[in-house]
Amino acid sequence: MRKKITVVGAGNVGATTAHWLVTREIADVVLIDIVEGVPQGKALDLREATPIAGSDVAVTGANDYAATANSDIVIITAGLARKPGMSRDDLLKKNHEIISACVEQAVARSPNAILILVTNPLDAMAQAAYKLSKFSRNRVIGMAGVLDSARFAAFIAMELDVSVENVNAFVLGGHGDTMVPLPRYTTVAGIPITELMDAATIEKLVQRTRQGGAEIVGLLKTGSAFYAPSAAAVQMAEAILKDKKQILPCAAYLEGEYGIHGVFVGVPCKLGARGIEDVIQVKLTADEQAALNKSADSVRQLVQVIGV
Ligand code: NAI
Ligand code: 2OP
Repeated sequence: MRKKITVVGAGNVGATTAHWLVTREIADVVLIDIVEGVPQGKALDLREATPIAGSDVAVTGANDYAATANSDIVIITAGLARKPGMSRDDLLKKNHEIISACVEQAVARSPNAILILVTNPLDAMAQAAYKLSKFSRNRVIGMAGVLDSARFAAFIAMELDVSVENVNAFVLGGHGDTMVPLPRYTTVAGIPITELMDAATIEKLVQRTRQGGAEIVGLLKTGSAFYAPSAAAVQMAEAILKDKKQILPCAAYLEGEYGIHGVFVGVPCKLGARGIEDVIQVKLTADEQAALNKSADSVRQLVQVIGV
């Protein structure tokens, strides 16, 4: 029997996530939204694309959660997107209400699912979902690091005029201005980028990565990025469904790893059938550890506001 993935939120990120899932033939997909007709229409449109894509998966759209029962993975993208001039943190309270409603209904139907949170502010929403679902921490994962690392990798490939496949970028921390790109652990064909670019160029790419979300918002003007974010969520889902044991940067609930307790922060995780199967701990310099601590503190401030 095929695996089932529910995508909650049929907006830009959710619908594009469903699109990648269908074209990659990863699982049957259920698309949920509160707007009547939208998930049904997008699901039918995707289903009609399956003969062209050569993809034998079912795609269902709905406003209620009946069709989501026994999903293997639930990807939550429902919520408001950031508008120009609006910080991710402005979204905090409204999106907390939205994801709480979604998580409650989704986990009631799929008590054994693995949750992947996408809604912003990401780390705080992942923490809210973790507390509300009462799932073990390996089954609640935030998507941000894969996106932030992909952006860093794309900028490096563009700068050096090399294949993106040669670049292995490494970004830790929360999904926000305090994220921690780590040039020391970022390589091109195994060569640290510190050997290939001067410090000023690396700093320019690090800053562009930190501002990556805002750069797209500034260009689109009516919403935020969705192609790369959805591709990132799908890479995580695929690693889990195929039990790949793939090491990807994910927002995880830390219980002492990196000296951080009781908060979601982006760290390298081994993703497999059980979700986060391990948090990979690498040695950080004092400056890198301080930056990670600062990032964790900024997530703590948010979760205190919503009391999770
Ligand atoms: P969008 O506005 O295109 O779609 C959001 C969808 O959620 C809409 O279709 C809306 O009807 C739906 N929705 C609202 N309340 C709902 C509810 N209670 N139940 C079901 N559906 C509901 O926004 P977009 O661009 O898809 O972004 C979604 C979220 O993802 C935003 O919070 C955005 O900031 C976040 N995001 C996070 C990224 C990350 O790296 N973690 C990257 C990109 C976006
Ligand atoms: C991004 O980084 C908005 O968080 C979203 O594109």
